[in-house]
Amino acid sequence: MQVIHSIADMQLLAMNLELKGRHIGLVPTMGALHAGHVSLIETARKKCDEVVVSIFVNPTQFGPNEDFSKYPRTLEADLQACEKAGADIIFAPAADEIYPKGYSTYVNEEHISKPLCGQSRPGHFRGVTTVVAKLFNIVRPEFAFFGQKDAQQVAVIRKMVADLHFRIDVVSCPIVREADGLAMSSRNRYLSTIQRQDALSLSQAIFNAKKMVEGGTRSTDRVIAETTHILGERRRVRLIYAQIVDCDTMEAMKEIVPGKSLLAIAAWVDEVRLIDNIVL
Ligand code: PAJ
Repeated sequence: MQVIHSIADMQLLAMNLELKGRHIGLVPTMGALHAGHVSLIETARKKCDEVVVSIFVNPTQFGPNEDFSKYPRTLEADLQACEKAGADIIFAPAADEIYPKGYSTYVNEEHISKPLCGQSRPGHFRGVTTVVAKLFNIVRPEFAFFGQKDAQQVAVIRKMVADLHFRIDVVSCPIVREADGLAMSSRNRYLSTIQRQDALSLSQAIFNAKKMVEGGTRSTDRVIAETTHILGERRRVRLIYAQIVDCDTMEAMKEIVPGKSLLAIAAWVDEVRLIDNIVL
């Protein structure tokens, strides 16, 4: 496994691989890798000749009061996890090479990125689309792998790829969960044992919603009321949003259409911001 830090080196390597007819898959990450990230790498391994994992804590997708500076940085452990999962190349650029002094160009998706996390984290998706477009240009992958854990992110990236004519196949991979249901997240390591107990209410709420829909419920209002109730029972949980949206466009839906409607939740567990979602 090769570890590359400079953009020029990565571009040169990608060009050579492309000339050799190798099919490149990219797994963009911010490091602090867990089994969710590993599942993306393993999926890429099965589909591609060369698996590139990028590790970059992207400053532009964090708000001014968010956890950029305290975001976990665990490069040594990440490299080991990547190697074990079968990655070929790690691309870990420095922030001042990705965003040099005077940097002023951004990529902005203007529709799908507006609701949900777009509303509660202004500027977040602009940072995501900007860095992912850069990574696409540097690594030149044929396939890019993203987790359904960030369902809105996948939808926004798919739209960017279509709108900007990137010739990249976006592959969405299922959410990996802890044994008790908690969706894996780099931010879970911020949780104390007690907070983690309360954090479980997110997955409990979405599984409950799934059951309601399987039992025949189609009313968005009823499902949201139940969801809000479950989260409201936990002292440390403050709901940011719980919405049922079209899983491609992220537009609100009044009636649930099984297989098409997504329940998306964001909540604070004390000072830790968590998200979860499920296709109902
Ligand atoms: P990060 O949060 O590190 O996540 C990297 C990828 O792992 C994303 O596609 C995310 O959806 C996926 N992922 C995280 N938790 C997962 C889980 N429990 N199951 C399955 N997949 C999971 O998302 C980002 O980084 C950044 O926004 C990035 C795309 C790298 C741009 O900076």
